[in-house]
Amino acid sequence: MATFYITTPIYYVNAAPHIGHAYTSLAVDTAARWHRLLGDDTRFLTGTDEHGLKIEQAARGAGVTPEMHADTWSAPFRAMSAALDLTNEDFIRTTEPRHEAVVAEIWRRMEAAGDIYLSEYKGWYSVGDEAYFTEAELVDGRSPTGHEVKWMEEQSCFFRLSKYGPALLAHLDAHPEFVRPTSRANELRRFIESGLQDISISRTTFTWGIPVPGKPGHVVYVWVDALTNYLSALGGPGTAMAERYWPHAVHVIGKDILRFHAVYWPAFLMSAGLPLPHQIFAHGWWTIDGQKMSKSLGNVVDPFEMADRYGPDAFRYFLLREVPFGTDGDFSELSLQARYRGELANDYGNLASRTLGMLRKYFDGVVPERGEEGPQDEPLRTLIAETRTELVRTLDELAFHKAIAAIWTVVGAANKYVVETAPWTLAKASHRARLAEVLYTLCETLRILGTWTLPFLPRKAVALLDQLAVPAAQRTWAATEIWGGLAVGTVTQAGENLFPQLELPAAAEAAPPAPAPKPSKTKEKTVTEPADQAPAAPAAPAPAATPAVAPIEYDDFAKLELRSAVIVAAERHPDADKLLKLTVDAGEGRLRTVCAGIAASYQPEALVGRSVVLLANLKPRKLRGIMSEGMLLAGGEGSGVSLLTLPGDLPPGTRIS
Ligand code: MSP
Repeated sequence: MATFYITTPIYYVNAAPHIGHAYTSLAVDTAARWHRLLGDDTRFLTGTDEHGLKIEQAARGAGVTPEMHADTWSAPFRAMSAALDLTNEDFIRTTEPRHEAVVAEIWRRMEAAGDIYLSEYKGWYSVGDEAYFTEAELVDGRSPTGHEVKWMEEQSCFFRLSKYGPALLAHLDAHPEFVRPTSRANELRRFIESGLQDISISRTTFTWGIPVPGKPGHVVYVWVDALTNYLSALGGPGTAMAERYWPHAVHVIGKDILRFHAVYWPAFLMSAGLPLPHQIFAHGWWTIDGQKMSKSLGNVVDPFEMADRYGPDAFRYFLLREVPFGTDGDFSELSLQARYRGELANDYGNLASRTLGMLRKYFDGVVPERGEEGPQDEPLRTLIAETRTELVRTLDELAFHKAIAAIWTVVGAANKYVVETAPWTLAKASHRARLAEVLYTLCETLRILGTWTLPFLPRKAVALLDQLAVPAAQRTWAATEIWGGLAVGTVTQAGENLFPQLELPAAAEAAPPAPAPKPSKTKEKTVTEPADQAPAAPAAPAPAATPAVAPIEYDDFAKLELRSAVIVAAERHPDADKLLKLTVDAGEGRLRTVCAGIAASYQPEALVGRSVVLLANLKPRKLRGIMSEGMLLAGGEGSGVSLLTLPGDLPPGTRIS
């Protein structure tokens, strides 16, 4: 059993939690849940950073004491743990006595090492960053992050950071995993190689901080104070907790605070004679619909609102799936909705409901004895075994998006397995032995998927495992190594639809796109009355007749839910010469009927088995008496219509974008 200690930055108590905070915390929580699933001795810490000039000024602005201000604004961060299902074992506040004592101890150790000296500080200071900057570092007279800077001259204690350059470089050499992603490690190395300056680590011009031991009038610089939280939450150097967890510490942070964590912090620890954390992982920043997030733009994403609207699982899933961990990303609610409807509801949710639904229908909801093996079984089991290895590899690197993508290859393959084995046909043919094996395979796949998704979809995965009646003791990584873990005779439970249709307030729904100028109908279309709905949007007849096209935003395009689908049956429409009535499987656990105006170009029987592109979220409409649920993409006109077909390896229901 390995040991794992993971931390978030401690958050400044000068603003309510936003997506940036939620992101780090959700990523850390997912990693912690993953390690618990592995059976590791795991500890997850978060908390609030409550000292410093920034907080003192915010309190003054609010007309309250810094203590009151800190109490008020620390609370929402605690509430965020509850709202987002965070499983932190501890929540530290830097105003707690247990923390202040350890900061004083670290200070004394650094002083005893001869690394602290008194001098005069002259330079630029940014309260926004709580950081010092040299003239050369300023950008247009502001800090590199755009905050205001002030010239400061005060007596201050200095830390001999300059002494630690070589030791830091040696550590980076010896521990290539110390800073991740690697690109950040390289950036950091260049910074250290360019020469480190000693830094000022005490302040005398304000009082909201931890007093420097033996130096009345000085308070400890807020970053020395804040960084120490990772150790003080374990009780400080030498305690049993520190011995147990400290060497395994992984600090997850935003890229903006890497230097504090990967240069200052290790140097302080070296000076204090303490071991360094195992790893520092710097993730990227989110923009919102392509813009920087800011109060003045009014686009700050509220994690409470997101968790409320989409559920904490979907919010977490989106943040971790959308961008590689370590890279910047853009948050758009429409993209979140698209992933919800596609990957969560249609792919994962439907696999669960169609499997459990068929089990109820054909076996009264009881997991059957295994039956007759078929050609589709082995490839699915092999993919599961391969994915298992991939999950260990990717999650060891905190590559959440890759891990999720890997899990979803199994979701896709299982949906394809349903189409290929066609249990409804087996049932009709009373082929019970094969039907039993197929449903066993699907239930077992679901059990494994449910367990694998515990870190990513903690609520829904539990709901799924409950429906499958998997005993609590079996909800472990080790149990997913076994094929056949689901006991024959298990009575499954009817349960909620895991990802029900979103019911969104008007403001959160996609605004309807501006109506595009309608091309004048061609004669042919007027004859085939339903054709504008039915097959494919035939391309505009000729460039000359194409009206000016209004450009659309990506978000408008994202509203089209295009999915791969397999044509499982085709026949002529009884009441319309130009239409074919197609039955398609779009990986939803039910089949759809789509009427397509392609009768002039295709014989119905030639279409069965083809993989096509379905516009899945088109409003259903009756076409000459038959309800058509969607539209297939095609090009051309009349007898020249050509259906857009896909290579067969895209499982039905795969989102196309
Ligand atoms: N108090 C310090 C950390 C001290 S840790 C010893 C601090 N706090 S913070 O509240 O300003 O920021 C906390 C985290 O939120 C940082 O890791 C920062 O990178 C992250 N984010 C803030 N805005 C963000 C985005 N827009 N996107 C992603 N993360 C962002 O810094």
